[in-house]
Amino acid sequence: MQSTTPLAVEDSHFEKVDTHVGARILVVDDEHTLVAVLGRYLRTRGFDVMTAESGEADLDELTRARFDLMLCDVRMPGMSGVDVVGPALKLDENLGIVMLSAVNDAPTAADVMAQGVLDYLTKPIELEQLYNAVNRALHKRTLLKEQRRVERAIRVEVAERTKELEQEKAHLRDLTVSVVETLVTAMEAKDVFQRGHSARVAELAASIAEYMGLAPDVVEDVRLAGRLHDVGNIGIREDVLNKPVALNTDEFAHVKEHVRIGVDILTPLRHIERVVMFVGDHHEHWDGSGYPHTRTGEQISIGGRILAAADAFDAVTSRRAYRDPMTPAEAVQLLHRCVGTLLDPRVYDALRVVVMRRKSLVFIDAIHG
Ligand SMILES: [Fe+2]
Ligand SMILES: [Fe+2]
Repeated sequence: MQSTTPLAVEDSHFEKVDTHVGARILVVDDEHTLVAVLGRYLRTRGFDVMTAESGEADLDELTRARFDLMLCDVRMPGMSGVDVVGPALKLDENLGIVMLSAVNDAPTAADVMAQGVLDYLTKPIELEQLYNAVNRALHKRTLLKEQRRVERAIRVEVAERTKELEQEKAHLRDLTVSVVETLVTAMEAKDVFQRGHSARVAELAASIAEYMGLAPDVVEDVRLAGRLHDVGNIGIREDVLNKPVALNTDEFAHVKEHVRIGVDILTPLRHIERVVMFVGDHHEHWDGSGYPHTRTGEQISIGGRILAAADAFDAVTSRRAYRDPMTPAEAVQLLHRCVGTLLDPRVYDALRVVVMRRKSLVFIDAIHG
């Protein structure tokens, strides 16, 4: 490629304050003479200059060392200057690029500005014009680099703050659930026959869920639903709740309300939506004879079906004012009669295995104890 680069440099150029002395510049052009002239000139202006005479050689240099600025010819045999821009910026996003183009390549040079090229110069190149363009590009590059640094810092900051907020949110959610759990524990503590009911239901229900192969997050929701399933009892009159004899129709209707009340209490906790659904189903029966929605079979959530079984098991194995508790084996036998009416057959099978397993564990403990 021909060029008529003037070698004369006016003294006045040297008077200007060079704010980028020492900047590392890579000059790339297939014209040996032009590269040599530009290199020599830029060195006299205090820049640290390297040269390359092809796009391929240029990329080799960029792989080996860091540069602040690349002056790159548009038209070169082999890899053109335009082809070099993308890979060069990939190697170093902070590399400033100024294209050197013949007049008829000017539109191409202008096009690559969209890819991150900072400027272009048309040949023949005036050295003063080159000097100014180099300084302008280096200045622009510094600003862009700073902008990128700030943007990156902002992104990191935003990500950290978002993470912190998420953690705070999760903490608040846990706290809300803990408050409700405390409420349940306090409520049960008042009644010797209810004490520990929800904790036991929770553990048994979670074991059944796990045995049935439910996903770990569902198992945990079943556990939490067990802890919270009777929170609605807070709205039930104590004399009815603790009545040692059979309830009359009105009293039973009142007790049934604990499901609705519980769901109302828990519904605002939107992060435990599935738990609330399980709680809402814990008195539904497999055959549709339960409450409040008289759902049947698999219309009842799996958590609701498991809670119904664990709840029934705990009721019959707990002491009441009017009867002794059943042994686990007796309870399993009794509940067998409820399969298909109160209980989902699959859930019952799981309960039986889990309870029998526990029983043998207790037995082993007793031997070693
Ligand atoms: Fe209940
Ligand atoms: Fe219960």
